[in-house]
Amino acid sequence: MRRQDQIAEARKLLAHLDRRTTALADGIYRNPVSDYTCPRQAAREGALFFRDGPINIGLSGLLPRPGDWMTHDYTGVPMLLVRRDDDTLGAFLNVCRHRGARVADGCGSGARSFSCPYHGWTYGVDGSLVARPEDAAFAAADRPSHGLRSLPVVEKHGMIWVGPRPDMALDVDTLLDGAADDLAAYGLQSYHHYETRVLRREMNWKLAIDTFGETYHLNYLHPDTVAPLFHNNRATFAAFGRNHRMIAARRTLDELRGQPEESWDLFAHTAIVYVLFPNTIFLFQRDHVETWHVFPGERPDSCAMYVSLYIPEPAAGDSARRHWDNNFNLLMATVELQDFPTCEGMQRGFSSGAQDSIVFGRNEPALQHYHRSVRAALGEAESRLAAE
Ligand code: FES
Ligand SMILES: [Fe+2]
Repeated sequence: MRRQDQIAEARKLLAHLDRRTTALADGIYRNPVSDYTCPRQAAREGALFFRDGPINIGLSGLLPRPGDWMTHDYTGVPMLLVRRDDDTLGAFLNVCRHRGARVADGCGSGARSFSCPYHGWTYGVDGSLVARPEDAAFAAADRPSHGLRSLPVVEKHGMIWVGPRPDMALDVDTLLDGAADDLAAYGLQSYHHYETRVLRREMNWKLAIDTFGETYHLNYLHPDTVAPLFHNNRATFAAFGRNHRMIAARRTLDELRGQPEESWDLFAHTAIVYVLFPNTIFLFQRDHVETWHVFPGERPDSCAMYVSLYIPEPAAGDSARRHWDNNFNLLMATVELQDFPTCEGMQRGFSSGAQDSIVFGRNEPALQHYHRSVRAALGEAESRLAAE
């Protein structure tokens, strides 16, 4: 976030504290329960958001050095990403061109090539087929046209996106829709990846996004964990196309009042949440960034996600590691023991017939914006299909 915006946001938050208010939407918004339960909608979301992408993979720090590689299967499309010698990223379908086996599994570093475990066809880090046993038996299938299928990949402002279909266009600036400058100012390319954890829960994937969409619940759901640190129901909101930013006030924010505006440090006194539509959350917590990448599971009421912690300097030594471990454990305990069990209860309640819709208050503008955006995106796709 640019400096002048930080000061403007701090002013707004201080005004909210003074007036005991928060950012407000124009009215309430009723979100149909089917948004979280309908198999037909889940199928449309899977096709539109996850198989047609684009998919934000995380920050550049996931693959910092040439030869670093990772696989990604959360969309149902098997993908392989690798940092090449010229420092650019390659992305491929993780599908052997012989008979379709997975070429790589997990993640690693120092790769010079990838050898398929089935019959040993070997691909360079540029995806080209560089060797295959009994080459003569395949003479009629020339090597140049049997490299791994490339996927579009873009690395920009320290973030990585992949398109899960080989022929799709990836336009990151349109995607960020005005949030690019805001995000570029964080220098995300300089962050170091500390750890990634994977969670699977019995709830719709959008409930995980909703978890980070308001500060109205802090005093009630998190009296001993988050509430001592953050003000309840005091936040600013800004939309960037279908993305949005919410800034939550820490209880220390009042300290700014005694300081000249030029020296205000917004980061020290807030948590800044970005939702990059549709399934990615960046959470700036003072000196570090947490990213959440949430994906639908097999059913509308299941999901999988990975959570990564990125830190400003590499963790050197035991005490630094202890510090970041504690940080990560606290975050995960709050979410896993408080937020997500609540979401799973909501998910079960959705099927009970208690109500056809849930209601987002005027004080929940981020949730309103997010769910209106989901609806708009699905509606647009539907009209496109109808027109075809
Ligand atoms: S399937 Fe990969 S080498 Fe045969
Ligand atoms: Fe929470």
